[in-house]
Amino acid sequence: MRPLIRSACRLRARVRAMATLPAAAAFSPSSSAAARPPRLTLALFFLPSAPAPAALGARALRTSASAAAAAAVDVGGVKIAREDVVREEDPTNNVPDTIYSKIGLQLHRRDNHPLGILKNTIYDYFDKNFSGQFNKFDDLCPLVSVKQNFDDVLVPADHISRSYNDTYYVDAQTVLRCHTSAHQAELLRDGHTHFLVTGDVYRRDSIDSTHYPVFHQMEGFRVFSPDDWSGSGMDGTAYAAADLKKTLEGLARHLFGAVEMRWVDTYFPFTNPSFELEIYFQDDWLEVLGCGVTEQEILKSNGRTDHVAWAFGLGLERLAMVLFDIPDIRLFWSNDQRFTSQFSEGKLGVKFKPFSKFPPCYKDMSFWINEEFTENNLCEVVRGIAGDLVEEVKLIDNFTNKKGLTSHCYRIAYRSMERSLTDEEINDMQWNVREEVKNKLKVELR
Ligand code: DAH
Repeated sequence: MRPLIRSACRLRARVRAMATLPAAAAFSPSSSAAARPPRLTLALFFLPSAPAPAALGARALRTSASAAAAAAVDVGGVKIAREDVVREEDPTNNVPDTIYSKIGLQLHRRDNHPLGILKNTIYDYFDKNFSGQFNKFDDLCPLVSVKQNFDDVLVPADHISRSYNDTYYVDAQTVLRCHTSAHQAELLRDGHTHFLVTGDVYRRDSIDSTHYPVFHQMEGFRVFSPDDWSGSGMDGTAYAAADLKKTLEGLARHLFGAVEMRWVDTYFPFTNPSFELEIYFQDDWLEVLGCGVTEQEILKSNGRTDHVAWAFGLGLERLAMVLFDIPDIRLFWSNDQRFTSQFSEGKLGVKFKPFSKFPPCYKDMSFWINEEFTENNLCEVVRGIAGDLVEEVKLIDNFTNKKGLTSHCYRIAYRSMERSLTDEEINDMQWNVREEVKNKLKVELR
């Protein structure tokens, strides 16, 4: 019924399933509708922002890693060096160089970048409607504690999103934030009552045109005191929910114009009730954001007993892909002028014009999996070799033989926008992928 939003359907299925499972909560950052861009099925083309290590071979890969070691990046005054984040020998660390290389780029702080343009347009809406009451944060450090990322927002201890398969761990206590909700508690404790937090977030995931292991979110938060709702005839929760819906409907109109909208009940650990906002746009229902009335426990633990609050979280890529017609999430990382020159400050919704077409090249690989095998681990290996030249990794065959061994066949799509990839280069890449998959994932190639 809604082919555009495969991830949404998946999420719904998972939410429904999880609601019946005592062990796991429904919040799953790895597939949250609020956060993830829609899975578009458009054909697309892209230009990698940096040469893919694959083209250079394994030796070059090591060299580029040590080059990265030389320079530390600065995020909001915090210096982050490679060795602070990538620790190959440490079993509690699963951050690869491809991820380290994205820290500090802060696409959302570039005023001529689609993500920066979108962020600024949302800022305008809040400035106009709340006369500057919302404090804005867009360079909070993406390295946060497990406590900030999960405990402070009540993500259950056994929740799947805490796994090494879903989240990048620097060590057992430190992660690359997987959502901007990680900053709610500290900002509340600092006394803020109205705030917007924009930042890069990190999740291990599969590979396709709408999934990239680094993307951007904006979190909104507003606290009410009893004086705010006492004359309204409503209780605090109802008052906050009504204000939340009015505020976010206004935001959706500000971004998309006069669109049809609907509210869908959902579940997040940090809000109750929780909702998703959907709009009818370009012939489909599109999930715009997740939100809700903040759990009392979060307010109480952070100095706001007797208050209520609302919160929302939205994925910037998800919205920007639709607003600017950007067909592949990798394009956001492109430094090619033919991409960057198409966007300018203050111009939301200028439609992106693809600048060249090169065909994808498909390579299949089959192997017997083992118990530890996960698709996220496979995708990490492929990205480590092919960088942004990998467009999609898709399971195309899956069977278990009489001995109980399970075989998977994955189809890898390689594509560059800049140029045609040569057969030789693709074969090299695929050969390297096969070697690494065999050695790192300990699977048996077929
Ligand atoms: N943190 C959620 C995610 O990453 C998004 C979200 C949903 C944020 C509801 C919120 C909220 O603040 O109230 O999927």
